[in-house]
Amino acid sequence: MKIRRRRDATRYIVGRVNEIPAGKSLKFIMPIDGSDEECFVINHHGRLHAYVNRCCHIPLALDWVDNQFFTADGRFVMCQTHNACYVPESGECVEGPGTSCGKFLTRIPLEIANGIIYAQPPEGPLPEHYDE
Ligand code: FES
Repeated sequence: MKIRRRRDATRYIVGRVNEIPAGKSLKFIMPIDGSDEECFVINHHGRLHAYVNRCCHIPLALDWVDNQFFTADGRFVMCQTHNACYVPESGECVEGPGTSCGKFLTRIPLEIANGIIYAQPPEGPLPEHYDE
């Protein structure tokens, strides 16, 4: 597993599209609001989505087993601490402990150019929407 942090002007190079086949993921580090944040990109049915690697239940990384984000059937992104499930396309929590359902992972906007994935840092601080 590689954690990447490379900058190209105001966007960050995550990696190459062909490094993330369907059902796979890649982690990267990007500064957000002055702090380095671990993020991840997933390939769900051929479409790439990226989020900050921080659960909405408790602000912990989702991948207790490094770089494993999908449920066994590949339908959801799952936090391995208490099994909250998120919709890969939107980051919405649809199943989880406590009152975490309905909250969203923090999306990272992506651009793809010439087979390279670029990430744009979201503006402002990360949301304070955790249960505990
Ligand atoms: S920390 Fe993610 S489900 Fe509890």
